Amino acid sequence: MSFPDCIPVEPNRYIHPVAVGDVRLANNLLLAPMAGYTNVAFRLIAKEVGGCGLVATEMVAAIGRGTRGQEERFRVLTRNLPQERPIAMQVYGREPELCAETARALEAAGADIIDLNCGCPVKKAKQSGCGVALMKEPAQVGRIVKAMVAATSRPVMVKMRLGFDAQNRTMLEVAHEAVANGAVALCVHARTGESKHGVPVDLSGLAEVRRLVPPSIPVFANGSMDTAAAIRAAKDEAGADGYMIGRAACGDPWLFRNLMAELTGGVRYHPGVAERRALLARHFDLIIELFGEERGVRVMRKYAFFYCNGLPGVRKFRGDFCRIASRADFARTVDSFFGALERGEIAGEAEHVQLVDEGDGEEP
Ligand SMILES: Cc1cc2nc3c(=O)[nH]c(=O)nc-3n(C[C@H](O)[C@H](O)[C@H](O)COP(=O)(O)O)c2cc1C
Repeated sequence: MSFPDCIPVEPNRYIHPVAVGDVRLANNLLLAPMAGYTNVAFRLIAKEVGGCGLVATEMVAAIGRGTRGQEERFRVLTRNLPQERPIAMQVYGREPELCAETARALEAAGADIIDLNCGCPVKKAKQSGCGVALMKEPAQVGRIVKAMVAATSRPVMVKMRLGFDAQNRTMLEVAHEAVANGAVALCVHARTGESKHGVPVDLSGLAEVRRLVPPSIPVFANGSMDTAAAIRAAKDEAGADGYMIGRAACGDPWLFRNLMAELTGGVRYHPGVAERRALLARHFDLIIELFGEERGVRVMRKYAFFYCNGLPGVRKFRGDFCRIASRADFARTVDSFFGALERGEIAGEAEHVQLVDEGDGEEP
């Protein structure tokens, strides 16, 4: 399977196509899975703006299915459209059989690549032996991967950290088990499970993983890969084959195409106020379609500021947006902010707001 990008560029050392098993990505800038954020509406926007080689769903818990509630949740989490492909879907769990069953269901739902979560650091994950807790159990990672590979025809990737904590840096054991049992790609969030997002990434740990696994297995760098300088460092210091971007893509839907431009000698794109407003309106329509008006309005509260990041007054706008309760509120708040901007009534410095932590999303 091969997927062209809507913004073709000349491949170079940093930006180039990459294969994950039988799936050929047009470029190596990947959207990170983010619970509570990377739903179909958000992913479509990322694809429409361009520059993103692979989108990812939110994680799907391997808890078995059957009840109406579980079926509905699975349907919402995995809903996808042909124009966003290729798409990765992620399994969150620790029981090989349940993870295998979930992988099978994800393939049936349209996944091109299936990913295992070995990185989620929230308390619930640690207590239940899932997410980053799996970094303490390399052999269990091997068992899960083996079961998932046997259950699906889709390539299996493992998204991991450098270790559970600084005292338990098990990335090499986990990488070895994953690949020995059939994983065809790794994504390494180059921090351990207790490091907050503000802690600089450790590219030497990433480099060790890159050296360990065969060159045919792409190793993607994750963790603050949001500037051209960070990407160059991940390539030059650690040999990364691609870059997965999370929070920064939320704060800036144009990030992928701008990183691509910067790394290939192209020109950065600066969306105007009218374009930001139009894309925000499109995102809102997609969210309402996905969740219905009542829930959709609440879901939209956390996205609105994405489209205003870097503009003056965005903090206040974000605050106003957190209170919208209807379509009419949405229209009023957007009109008031963008209208004031267009009339030059909002003065002051450019303001940036960012998602802070995994805790900003929904718990699994
Ligand atoms: C709100 C939120 C939700 C997240 N949900 C997931 C998830 O479902 N699966 C996963 O593997 N990682 C999840 N992550 C981690 C990101 O995929 C990524 O590894 C992390 O944010 C570091 O990348 P960044 O610095 O580019 O944001 C989440 C992160 C955030 C901020």
